[in-house]
Amino acid sequence: MEKKNKPKYGSLSNILFTIRNIIRIDKVLLVSMCALVFCTVAQPIVTVYMPKFIVQFFEEGRGVNDFLLLVVVFGAVSLIIGQIKSFADGYFPRMKSLYRSMRLGVEMCMASMNVDYKYLSSELGQLENEKAQHAISNPSTGVEQIVVRIVECSANLLGAIVYIFILSSLNPLVILGLVVCGAVSFLTGNLVNKYRLKHKDTISKIDQKTYYSITISKDRAYAKDIRMYGMYEWLSSLMQNYVGQMLTWNKKISLRIFFSEAVDGLIAFLRDGLAYLYLISLVLAGSIPVSEFLLYISAIAGLSMWVSGFARNAILLNTASIEVSDFRVFLDKAEENLRQEQPKREFDVPMSIEFRNVDFAYGEHIIFKDFNVFIGKGKKVALVGVNGAGKTTLVKLLLNLIEPDKGEILLNGIDSKQIDLKQYFSQFSIAFQDALILAYGLDVNISMRDSNDTDQQKVDRVIAEAGLDKKVQSMKKGKYTSCEKYLDSEGTELSGGERQKLILARALYKAAPVLVLDEPSAALDPIAESKLYESYHAMTKNKTSIYISHRLSSTKFCDEVLLLDGGHIAERGTHNALMQQNGIYAHMFEVQSHYYAQEESGEPA
Ligand SMILES: Nc1ncnc2c1ncn2[C@@H]1O[C@H](COP(=O)(O)OP(=O)(O)O)[C@@H](O)[C@H]1O
Ligand SMILES: [Mg+2]
Repeated sequence: MEKKNKPKYGSLSNILFTIRNIIRIDKVLLVSMCALVFCTVAQPIVTVYMPKFIVQFFEEGRGVNDFLLLVVVFGAVSLIIGQIKSFADGYFPRMKSLYRSMRLGVEMCMASMNVDYKYLSSELGQLENEKAQHAISNPSTGVEQIVVRIVECSANLLGAIVYIFILSSLNPLVILGLVVCGAVSFLTGNLVNKYRLKHKDTISKIDQKTYYSITISKDRAYAKDIRMYGMYEWLSSLMQNYVGQMLTWNKKISLRIFFSEAVDGLIAFLRDGLAYLYLISLVLAGSIPVSEFLLYISAIAGLSMWVSGFARNAILLNTASIEVSDFRVFLDKAEENLRQEQPKREFDVPMSIEFRNVDFAYGEHIIFKDFNVFIGKGKKVALVGVNGAGKTTLVKLLLNLIEPDKGEILLNGIDSKQIDLKQYFSQFSIAFQDALILAYGLDVNISMRDSNDTDQQKVDRVIAEAGLDKKVQSMKKGKYTSCEKYLDSEGTELSGGERQKLILARALYKAAPVLVLDEPSAALDPIAESKLYESYHAMTKNKTSIYISHRLSSTKFCDEVLLLDGGHIAERGTHNALMQQNGIYAHMFEVQSHYYAQEESGEPA
């Protein structure tokens, strides 16, 4: 269990990663970090030496001028350190938070867009994504936290070295004792850390559930259903339950922290007590003057502070480092995916599509078993089948969004795995059933690019082809109207049918060699639907196309009908041939035309 949870990257590697990034992104931030380390160590040294020198000057019977000089020198040194510190204090806190949220946050989003879709939609991918997000989500975690801890640890380490140097004339056993005490408190603190690490996955799973329940409770998209279906109590108890679980874990961890801090306090008490006794005995024996006593007593207290500070911060650094490792694991996935690029190829259009001996299952749920189909170049096929037959799954397999468990999917006879993924994606124009509409203008929602990079003439053409022209004309800002009110109060809200037309327009704009429409007419009114059929021929000119629909009348516009049933193509042929065959298709068609007979005045087409 522990082994499995061992982070991929160790602390040292993560420190180097952080510093490399800081140098890449903001060199001044690194300067301010060094300045902070310097000031953190230098300031107390001034306060350690000041009383020592004053007493020493008294002991040596120096004159007023010497005292004045002492004050001036210390004043000047303090002033310089103070100025450096105010620069660091001003720069560091602001920039480290930008480093996390703006710089690496953006890189994380870019990584999310580049990771393999199959990985991202898998359970592992979701969990790893969540953990990586956590590493950049706030100042007390991961990426920003490690920056803070690098500064603290460096200051403590440097302080300890300087103080050991100051104390070097004392019995080395004293120094050894102080360092051992620090090591013991580090080890007890580290037990807490190990515990946290062991249960990290469980905790992030609860975190994920908590976040999800909170998100749906406040998301506008769910607001209607929450009200209409009275989901308040259930959602509240869900949230409270998850928050309760989080609290339980926090309690378990807090208890361990309390224990380790109690041990820490006890060690500090013994350590300081013994050191004081030893120094007082030296003064009483006349081995050191009072000025030295003052120096050592503050240096011992200081060294204890540096050592225990280092121990505490090293633990926090370690915790942050685990999160940074999570972050890097996710970034690696994106880079791996980019590196996996296959050579670009030339494709003849129109294209042929083939599924060869394909097995696919969602977990235990087998969808395809030894599935075979060939769709010739430029063929327009209709894919039909009952709900859940696997039509959308077939499309996702074809698009390489999910991977077959066995077998191959070929485009123009080339195995899809041998084709560069970005180039592969660019071969398909697809209207998804559940496509997303962005809170930007209609034109942007069609081109999926910035308005300035959009071919506006083409947009006008596909708006007309998809039957959206009336809607566009009715709006003050026309095709530039935002499709949501989220970013623009003058935005519109599209009806189900209008959304579907927009998604169709998007697929047409892309004008890729293969057109796949997944139930494009489900929300269309009969007039819009018949218009879609009319223009379908023009849309699919010189393209291979797959048209999925429940409305069997649409199949007449296609060269061939493929009926998906029981995980294979059960029937295949033209509409007329399948009607003659009098099988499943003919039966489905008859049931449907029975209901449309009156509506479409006896003509079930
Ligand atoms: N991501 C998924 N995980 C598990 N099961 C899924 C997933 N997507 C679809 N299914 C299931 O696979 C079957 C086929 O779904 P789908 O291909 O969407 O059918 P349809 O033919 O209606 O488009 C359905 O029973 C569905 O519940
Ligand atoms: Mg479907």
